[in-house]
Amino acid sequence: MKQSVKMIVGNWKMNGLTADLGEARALTESLSDAPASCRVALCPAATLVAQMAWALKGQGVEIGGQDCHAEPKGAFTGSISAAMLVDAGARLVILGHSERRQGLGETDSLVAAKFETAVAAGLEPIVCVGETLTQRETGQAVPLVTAQVLGSLPDAAASHAFAVAYEPVWAIGTGLTPTVAQIAEVHEAIRSALVQRLGPAGTRVPILYGGSVTPANAGEILQVAEVGGALVGGASLKAASFLAIVRAAEPARVAADAQG
Ligand code: PGA
Repeated sequence: MKQSVKMIVGNWKMNGLTADLGEARALTESLSDAPASCRVALCPAATLVAQMAWALKGQGVEIGGQDCHAEPKGAFTGSISAAMLVDAGARLVILGHSERRQGLGETDSLVAAKFETAVAAGLEPIVCVGETLTQRETGQAVPLVTAQVLGSLPDAAASHAFAVAYEPVWAIGTGLTPTVAQIAEVHEAIRSALVQRLGPAGTRVPILYGGSVTPANAGEILQVAEVGGALVGGASLKAASFLAIVRAAEPARVAADAQG
């Protein structure tokens, strides 16, 4: 299924101080005259969610968190709850990023539990999946990613808005990207897994690609069948490069620019 509205989400990871909010403001200023042909979101560190949401209010850029706890509240020192993100102005939340699956041991079932808590609070999850280089080299990419999709979604997922992001671990922050054929193969497998898990609702879930997306490769990647957008790390930190990726997703805007 080709989707006309692409979702372009910036993941600032553990980067960004108050002084960097200027980059987010510069992004919205440049986007203000653009047609709404894509959804644009930024996911800053938890400390910046409220400030960014306030600074960008009403500017057409949605704000997301990078994680939330599986419990709605309680004695979990250092954690942030889904309701806290909503309270701070977030609408989205990234769940199950490989930097949390690998570094912090997050499992599919924990991601599914976080999904339930996030949607109960009113957040739209972006569930990340992706294989390591060894898994790809041993032919495990498709079965592994399929299992992650099936295991990371709760039974009730069909009744909620959410996205899946395919992020090969070996492509994140490395400058390496899969071929267009490899992206297409995995995105098709994810679509099948979504339909298997959710029925017809699975056809409507946006599937983003993430992992070394840049202004140079975004246009080609966003044309791939079943690629419904991009989850962008490093290139989202600067307004200029993130904007170039957003524009690669906006054919109407590109055509207007070309006409001067
Ligand atoms: P990258 O990160 O664009 O810096 O590779 C993507 C991500 O981890 O979401």
